[in-house]
Amino acid sequence: MNLNKLLSAQLGLPKYLNAALKRLGGNIAMVGTKNAAHVLVKAINEGGILFKGVFERAQDYVPNSEFDGFIVQPLKNLSKLQSSDTVIIASSQEAEGLYETITQIEKISKAKVLHFKSLMDVYMIHDELKDLLRFDFSEFLFWKSLFLGKNWQEPPPISFKNKVVLELGPYEGNQSVMLMRQNPKKVIAIEGRPLNFAKTSLISSLYKFKNFELILGDMHLFPQLINEKIDIIFCAGVLYHSSKPWWLLENCLKHADTVVLCGHVSSEFSKNALGFKSMDLESGSYEFEIQPEYGWEDNRSGISGTSLWFKEEDLARFAKFYGFSFKRYNSHVNSTGRWISSVLRKTKKRPRSGVRK
Ligand SMILES: C[S@@+](CC[C@H](N)C(=O)[O-])C[C@H]1O[C@@H](n2cnc3c(N)ncnc32)[C@H](O)[C@@H]1O
Repeated sequence: MNLNKLLSAQLGLPKYLNAALKRLGGNIAMVGTKNAAHVLVKAINEGGILFKGVFERAQDYVPNSEFDGFIVQPLKNLSKLQSSDTVIIASSQEAEGLYETITQIEKISKAKVLHFKSLMDVYMIHDELKDLLRFDFSEFLFWKSLFLGKNWQEPPPISFKNKVVLELGPYEGNQSVMLMRQNPKKVIAIEGRPLNFAKTSLISSLYKFKNFELILGDMHLFPQLINEKIDIIFCAGVLYHSSKPWWLLENCLKHADTVVLCGHVSSEFSKNALGFKSMDLESGSYEFEIQPEYGWEDNRSGISGTSLWFKEEDLARFAKFYGFSFKRYNSHVNSTGRWISSVLRKTKKRPRSGVRK
């Protein structure tokens, strides 16, 4: 990883560094007036940092000099800092190359001493892995969500607090992040594609998730793959990718009392319908819309060659048969068809066959 190359690219760097500095909390002081120092000052100028100024070691200190609008102070002034504060050494050198400077500052000040590279962790991981893992939501996951706390979509209108949540098909972890922010007891995610598993694992590490478990497996088989009792199933963007959606949905309704169900439904707005398929199921007769799927070619797709889409009214009928209410809380039409977001809640007690405890 060439830090100087990254510094010269400087794409969005001040904004990101500003967020990284804020994450440290406390006051920030900067030692050094070379290349990296200009980048750090730009980051500080983005605002919101409790900045204590620019400092320089005795050998480089020139009284009354200025650096990018700040009076340069001697290192001894760092003695005023507290243990909750941080001194950043503005140099692209590795920590070992900064040994003398770091130990000198440690003698003067109670503050933590970090070098510039310590602020670049997420930046370096992003730079190294974005093309290798081909993140679609790279900008969102690495910056907007991680540093600015943004969610990909608004949380569904239910409480996840202290609940065990099963997330089907997390893709890159874009919704896992939102779910983890709802204070669940635990989120268990099942993803069918190894690449998506790798992306979500990386996101889980970057966000420091503690109660998040990721399983590589087929979502239709979740009752076999999970031993815990599930409170809520988050089934978003996946049911309409299945060629056996009734199987997945029936499993969801048998293994949780609340199911968040978001995705495409068959409607007059469907763009790519290949035809219809009639099915007689335990809960009645249905006509599903046949849609193309792209198998292993497309990382967001279902795994088989085609999928079947429920009509909205059929979803409600299916839910009712299994003792659930169906409530849509959002809907829109996009380039593929009609999308709905809904919550299914258990209203009647039915014996739960095959539930594993
Ligand atoms: C459209 S993305 C949905 C992403 C996310 N849930 C959301 O709401 O934004 C579909 C995801 O489901 C996964 N998937 C599709 N079929 C699956 C299956 N049979 N088992 C497990 N995961 C599957 C895909 O690999 C992909 O990650």
